Amino acid sequence: MNKIVMDAAEETLLHTYNRFPVVLDKGDGVYLYDTEGKKYLDFAAGIAVCGLGYHYPGYDEALKEQVDKLLHTSNLYYHAPMVEAGKKLLSASKMSRVFFTNSGTEAIEGALKAARKYAYEKTGGSRYEIIAMNQSFHGRSMGALSVTGTAHYREPFEPLVGGVKFADFNDLDSVKAQITEKTCAVILETVQGEGGIYPADPAFLKGVRKLCDEKDLVLILDEIQCGMGRTGSYFAWQEYGVEPDIMTCAKALGNGVPVGAFVLNEKLAKSSLAPGDHGTTYGGNPFVCAAVSKVFDLFEENHILEHVKELTPYLESALDKLAEKYSCIAERRGKGFMQGLVIKDRPVGEVVSKALEEGLIVISAGSDVLRLVPPLVITREHIDEMTEKLEKCLQ
Ligand SMILES: Cc1ncc(COP(=O)(O)O)c(C=O)c1O
Repeated sequence: MNKIVMDAAEETLLHTYNRFPVVLDKGDGVYLYDTEGKKYLDFAAGIAVCGLGYHYPGYDEALKEQVDKLLHTSNLYYHAPMVEAGKKLLSASKMSRVFFTNSGTEAIEGALKAARKYAYEKTGGSRYEIIAMNQSFHGRSMGALSVTGTAHYREPFEPLVGGVKFADFNDLDSVKAQITEKTCAVILETVQGEGGIYPADPAFLKGVRKLCDEKDLVLILDEIQCGMGRTGSYFAWQEYGVEPDIMTCAKALGNGVPVGAFVLNEKLAKSSLAPGDHGTTYGGNPFVCAAVSKVFDLFEENHILEHVKELTPYLESALDKLAEKYSCIAERRGKGFMQGLVIKDRPVGEVVSKALEEGLIVISAGSDVLRLVPPLVITREHIDEMTEKLEKCLQ
């Protein structure tokens, strides 16, 4: 069965991914099963998407209820699930207005447009430059790619959107050096994900916020991977006491349905995108919004943020012990349930493949980082099981 599906996929799908030789069939809790019945402990959560794992009590039921009612309306009409999801997202972020999208990439596009429009309203188009970070990742569309700080992702598609400059993450002077009279915004991930799991230094993030305040620049924080509880707060910036002007989120926001959002503070909401400036046919349809709304309810009812906070020291200490024991681990870094082990002396892909054989799903980040972004509902026992399996790959 596995082989039939894999062969058919290679003959059918555009080859933009080198997939692992596994055909996943179903999920249960924090485990996945392939079509041959092999069980995997999931420490990747579909790249930080399935925060509640698979079939979390109450989630499927809410989706099924919405399927029976109404899937789609377009954005020409009101519907209650969008309002409910929006209210809950604003309550969690203490921000002012939300626009729902179909993906993280689209949330980035909207955020960039809102930032440019804010500057346009203020200066009539003389300020348009955006400062992004080296090693950042914001998506694959032409706009999101333009602010993604990895040259090999960008180069084949240039020229991209103009007016983007790159600075070094966690280096305030490097950001300062890129500011000109044309700058309108700074975009960064609060914890860099794809680039290799680098949390922002508190002094750096506070410094960028101060710079943005002084020069009336829009601060966009990309919380697509690090948001929705992954660091123990709804959004990682809440751990720093620094507020963005625009935040992007997606991934765990819907726990598996395709939904993202960009969220604006009052200043940006009042003076950026207006009717006719932006739109989407599917974005925030009743189905995905019912999922978002239920995700927030389940987070609250089941104290998911508290759980992540409580268990983080256990996860960190388990990984630190591995790093002490195995010389092929150069370093552990991360925040909450977004952790990376820097692998030296062997390709990280080898460890990922070996883990898969052992029944553990992990992924890589950057060129040499083993990334662990498990469902937020893992227990100590799952962490023990993960370390046991990972040890077999590191020996
Ligand atoms: C920080 C960050 N921003 C943006 C994106 C793009 O999101 P999506 O793949 O949902 O379009 C990702 C995806 O990995 C991400 O990690």
